[in-house]
Amino acid sequence: MTIILAIESSCDDTSAAVLKNGKILSNCVASQTIHKEYGGVVPEVASRAHQANIVPVVEMALQKAGVSKKDLSAIAFTRGPGLMGSLLVGVSFAKALALSLEIPMIEVNHIQAHILAHFIDAPQPAFPFLCLTVSGGHTQIVLVKDYLEMEILGTTIDDAAGEAFDKTGKLLGLDYPAGPIIDKMAKEGTAIFEFTEPNIPNLDFSFSGLKTNILRFLQKNNRLNSNFIQENLADICASVQDRIVSILLNKLKKAAIQADVQQIAIAGGVSANSGLRTALEEVGTQNGWEVFIPKFEYCTDNAAMIAMTAYYKYKDKDFVGQDITPLARYNF
Ligand code: KG4
Ligand code: ZN
Repeated sequence: MTIILAIESSCDDTSAAVLKNGKILSNCVASQTIHKEYGGVVPEVASRAHQANIVPVVEMALQKAGVSKKDLSAIAFTRGPGLMGSLLVGVSFAKALALSLEIPMIEVNHIQAHILAHFIDAPQPAFPFLCLTVSGGHTQIVLVKDYLEMEILGTTIDDAAGEAFDKTGKLLGLDYPAGPIIDKMAKEGTAIFEFTEPNIPNLDFSFSGLKTNILRFLQKNNRLNSNFIQENLADICASVQDRIVSILLNKLKKAAIQADVQQIAIAGGVSANSGLRTALEEVGTQNGWEVFIPKFEYCTDNAAMIAMTAYYKYKDKDFVGQDITPLARYNF
């Protein structure tokens, strides 16, 4: 019997999950809402909140799973990428627990875990598949050849897709994180405003030009009507979302042709976006793709995906020692 406790603390969510023989028994998340006050994640504040949350979140995950610490086969943690102060809390906690229980430790790459969240439940993609990973820190098209064998085909050269949502939201006076708010507002509006699509070669992305384009557009219209944003918020949100989604999906279409792959998945916080989910289904039908979209709870940061990834590493006995350190930047 394999029972793994997994910890995720790379950004502003403290999460713990318990997995037994490949099945998730519990997945608890403490989200830090305090960052709203600052308009973005403040690293120092995030690490302090992780420190306060980690013990109760772990206790809750074990209790919900009906598992006691002495039953654990291994402890897994997010090694990176992420905020160093945040990662340190999870890594240090894992080290202390592994040492006291005399069980092995498994380190997990956060982005790989977002992709492997697709193996938590059915239906599951078959290898090879393409995964568009879109979060607050990353935007990548990944060719997934096997559970732990992945190749990045394209990545952002500046902002991530989540940042594009969050930074635009800031320009519109919305709270952080603005992605879910823009998503909600967009449902009440129509994409009547035209924003630019950058001309980036190959499979890379760029979102900084879009942000400048939106800023100029708002400045121009505000000069003519100081209530422009308030009066047009839903349509602006729909237009912003429409453009971000089209930038993502146009590259994904190109990647699918180049890699000759029809199994297509999305992952990461932005994959919770309803405009992206609907458009992906449509583009998938048009192109003969089989499309895989994670459950909402497995899109944003969670420890269930860390546990799932750790399960495949556990099978390979891919363990790490007490000298392991977190990595703010961590490519696979
Ligand atoms: O994966 P995640 O929880 O954390 C990172 O690893 O970054 O992603 C967080 C990002 C934020 O930028 C947030 O605005 C965005 O995901 N996000 C959304 C939605 N839900 C979360 N963006 C657009 N629409 C949503 N519904
Ligand atoms: Zn993430």
